[in-house]
Amino acid sequence: MGIGEAQGKIIVFGEHFVVHGAPAIAGGISSKVTVEVEKSDKNRIITEHKVVEKMSLAGIERVLAVMGIHERYGVHLRGDLRTYGGLGSSAAFCVAMVHAFADEKKIHLTKEEVNKYAYEGEKAFHGNPSGIDNTIATHGGVILFERGKEKNKFELLELYKPLDFVVTFTGKYSETAKMVERVKKFKEQDEKEFTQLMDEYTDIATHGRHAIERGKIEDIGKLMNANQSLLSELGVSDETNDEINKIALEVGAIGAKLTGGGGGGCCIALTKDQEQASKIAEMFKKKGLDSFTTQIEKRH
Ligand code: PMV
Repeated sequence: MGIGEAQGKIIVFGEHFVVHGAPAIAGGISSKVTVEVEKSDKNRIITEHKVVEKMSLAGIERVLAVMGIHERYGVHLRGDLRTYGGLGSSAAFCVAMVHAFADEKKIHLTKEEVNKYAYEGEKAFHGNPSGIDNTIATHGGVILFERGKEKNKFELLELYKPLDFVVTFTGKYSETAKMVERVKKFKEQDEKEFTQLMDEYTDIATHGRHAIERGKIEDIGKLMNANQSLLSELGVSDETNDEINKIALEVGAIGAKLTGGGGGGCCIALTKDQEQASKIAEMFKKKGLDSFTTQIEKRH
């Protein structure tokens, strides 16, 4: 038997803009998945979470193959990370699974190896993943991620102090691929406007990085709001995102935006501390929404 753990992520700045070459900043959150593996007559996924079984099995097979393991396993998936809404759960599953197989086989892996093997598993869930999710699930903390023509680049950023968030699921799910397509159309139809938005966003990323590194929480909030306005202009923020962000700001959150693909999915709100995050999450829960608190922690 082997056991492994990995965390989910939120994108603090830069979804969609990252697809077109701007840097995104993402953080590993305290919500985690745990994977336990035990030998079995065939590969199977055992979980109470909502998962696509076919993809999960393909993920297990890909990870076993790339790690050169020939036995079959029952793979138990647990933990408090929601498996929907763009929180990086499939990548966290793959990273935790790589750790669990390494534990079972008593092999030591470097972070680079863990990331590489998990990326192979991720391909079963997203045909052509950018790699941001598995990189965060492997390294934790905050990363600045840039898509390259040849190769992706990432930089591990130093977080000045932990950041508290409320994550709220809008109740609506839109496929990320469709939202990415929508932005592509926007760009084709109005290249000039798109370039202007990209420039404005790039400024946000530069300032956002510094604010995170210096613990300037008010600045991070303002920049999140500015990023949200640009996402609205791009057309990826729908009325459910707008409403949740508006309410979060009205009750005192420092900044609010959608996170991930948009068109629903999840929204994040930055709060001054865990207590405020809990109050806001409770308020959303009373409105019947799935809402929870989480934290971007310093890298361990
Ligand atoms: O929905 P998620 O968490 O997979 O995030 C999507 C982020 C996009 O920038 C919209 C797409 C991408 O591949 O980076």
